[in-house]
Amino acid sequence: MKFFIDTANVEEIREVNEWGVISGVTTNPSLIAKEGRDFKGVIKEITDIVDGPISAEVISLDANGMVKEAEELAQIHPNIVIKIPMTKEGLKAVKILSSKGIKTNVTLVFSANQALLAARAGATYVSPFAGRMDDIGNEGMIIIGDIVEIFDIYGIETEVIAASIRHPMHIIEAAKLGAHIATVPYKVFEKMLKHPMTDNGIEKFLNDWKSVENNK
Ligand code: E4P
Repeated sequence: MKFFIDTANVEEIREVNEWGVISGVTTNPSLIAKEGRDFKGVIKEITDIVDGPISAEVISLDANGMVKEAEELAQIHPNIVIKIPMTKEGLKAVKILSSKGIKTNVTLVFSANQALLAARAGATYVSPFAGRMDDIGNEGMIIIGDIVEIFDIYGIETEVIAASIRHPMHIIEAAKLGAHIATVPYKVFEKMLKHPMTDNGIEKFLNDWKSVENNK
């Protein structure tokens, strides 16, 4: 499973990119708004940091508007992937964009049926939102498992991005289910990395090392 980082904060992106673990970035209008910066400026800066798919979301609700926004965003960099909401108009836009060779990430996916429709319309990625499904009492990971299984049966090339990741167990579950990618917030990356026994182990090694007179 590959990792994308789910943020529009360039410091977070720079930091995790230096760890060498991410191959892409996802943003959404809420994450962009949180940064209080110009949308296209942030996206451009992100493309200068990470050499991989960078998802930028449209805000139009009609297919023509989505396509127009998408074409403008796609001009920023060849790595731009257009995030399109899972609606009828969204599917129409995905079909048009896919015929123009513009990559899409269909977002706000909450069922395997929605994922299948998005894939058949030509989506490059689908993003089922695990955490938000959990929030309303549906087990998000079951839906992600269903999508991966169905795509495998039919050899569908659309990649599944486990999204709305809230904690490290979501990552383990998504990985075991065969999700191609997990898009992970910075705070969850930190939790994946940390283990008290690693910290204790380092402390003990250093103390033991210092206890040898010649190593002081
Ligand atoms: C996915 O691409 C979305 O940006 C994101 O994962 C949504 O997560 P949230 O439910 O924590 O807002």
